[in-house]
Amino acid sequence: MSNMFGFSRAVIAALVVLCCSNALRRNCPVVTGHVGIGPFSGNDTVHINLDGVEVIEGTLGEYPYTPRDYLLTQPSYTLSRIHAYDLVDLDLTSLHSADSITLGSPNLHTLHHTKLRNATSLSIHSMQINSLDSLSDNELNLEKLYINGPFPNVNSIAIGCTSVDYMQVLDNSSVTLGGSSTKEMTIKQLDLNSITGLKRSATLQTLEVDSMKLSGPIHITHLKIPFDNLRELQVLQQENSPLKTITLPPKAVDWTGGFGLVVTGGPDLNLTSRYGADDQGKRIQTWYWPKNVLLIDISGATVGNTFFDSFVTQQMGLNKDFPPSVLSDFRIVPSANSTTFNCTTFRELEGMGRLPSDGYEFSCYDPYLASGAIRVHVPITLSFVSAVLGICIWMI
Ligand SMILES: *[C@@H]1O[C@H](CO)[C@@H](O)[C@H](O)[C@H]1NC(C)=O
Ligand SMILES: *[C@@H]1O[C@H](CO)[C@@H](O)[C@H](O)[C@H]1NC(C)=O
Ligand SMILES: *[C@@H]1O[C@H](CO)[C@@H](O)[C@H](O)[C@H]1NC(C)=O
Ligand SMILES: *[C@@H]1O[C@H](CO)[C@@H](O)[C@H](O)[C@H]1NC(C)=O
Ligand SMILES: *[C@@H]1O[C@H](CO)[C@@H](O)[C@H](O)[C@H]1NC(C)=O
Ligand SMILES: *[C@@H]1O[C@H](CO)[C@@H](O)[C@H](O)[C@H]1NC(C)=O
Repeated sequence: MSNMFGFSRAVIAALVVLCCSNALRRNCPVVTGHVGIGPFSGNDTVHINLDGVEVIEGTLGEYPYTPRDYLLTQPSYTLSRIHAYDLVDLDLTSLHSADSITLGSPNLHTLHHTKLRNATSLSIHSMQINSLDSLSDNELNLEKLYINGPFPNVNSIAIGCTSVDYMQVLDNSSVTLGGSSTKEMTIKQLDLNSITGLKRSATLQTLEVDSMKLSGPIHITHLKIPFDNLRELQVLQQENSPLKTITLPPKAVDWTGGFGLVVTGGPDLNLTSRYGADDQGKRIQTWYWPKNVLLIDISGATVGNTFFDSFVTQQMGLNKDFPPSVLSDFRIVPSANSTTFNCTTFRELEGMGRLPSDGYEFSCYDPYLASGAIRVHVPITLSFVSAVLGICIWMI
């Protein structure tokens, strides 16, 4: 077998073809090497039982296993790429540790699995199962977490890991950060696409995110950012997105990292004021400017000068506790119906050296310009294109 795929036995200690999995089940709680599932032929229904395997000291993915996968350690293709099969039932009950796990089988209805204790990289792709909890709600320290649907039978996804360098969720589901028992969570880069909600688990005591990007078709009307710390927020809407408000928590004033805000919105996104209404219609403050702002880049949304009040006060040098922030970029391209907005104050600040003054780093359009001479298009971002491409690849 190793010759067939050009591997030396030293490189891959165990290459397991799972049609012979029964022998593996009870006798090998620890597997050294890659566990590949497949190949399958014909249209038979496939059930796989690996309920005795506890640790895979390598990767769990698909068979065949290519040297490229091994080098990248991140399998580049998954169960979902194997055609002519109908894997409906996979039993991994005892599996709790594997370096890298890739699971995704578009017809898989039943996954028997208890929980994970140790993994570095986890990729979950389209399946019919009705909960991802055994995979996603575990207190893991992950380097990479990919949850790329569609998962037609899942409405909400609980993420339990304590730390993760890069997390991507691409699904028409609501995401809850913090699982059933996670107390602390740190995410370096959070990339959310097509989700229907974003929540913070009540059990989570701290939630720190360095950079968050929300893109794709956003099915969220009121976006509340529930983080204790955040450095960069990117909300990249497509046209006709229902997003109307973005709310930051009061502690945002203390965010330390040098806040960057990038918003491409539609005219329905209302950034005219730092105040809004709560669920009972009571007036509340919904936006808090961090004291250290590095970047503001807003286009397409409906803005008003009062939204920027406390930021402008600080930049004018009128906040005795905080000196003006030093920004790398300031760009505002308001929607045409931003009738209460004008650029006068920002040009003044630019003139005072309190905003960047280079032509690219500073731009501010008065709304009458935005409606006439300059047509505003919500940019279709590269990441969206690649996300769509990603979806296509998984659906092939
Ligand atoms: C599997 O099913 C497809 C579509 O139902 C059919 O075209 C194909 O011939 C079947 N293959 C086998 C090996 O039975
Ligand atoms: C996780 O696995 C790695 C390598 O397989 C090992 O070094 C580490 O001790 C394990 N951690 C836990 C908490 O089991
Ligand atoms: C996504 O979910 C929302 C709300 O649950 C629903 O209105 C919408 O039709 C769904 N879209 C897709 C493409 O499944
Ligand atoms: C901007 O105008 C559009 C229609 O022209 C309207 O639907 C939208 O509610 C307005 N947005 C705000 C925030 O006023
Ligand atoms: C936009 O927000 C402001 C402040 O909360 C509110 O007065 C106004 O009615 C909102 N506009 C729309 C179109 O919802
Ligand atoms: C521009 O906006 C400022 C602050 O909202 C306001 O005081 C000023 O009158 C406006 N200027 C014009 C020309 O509309």
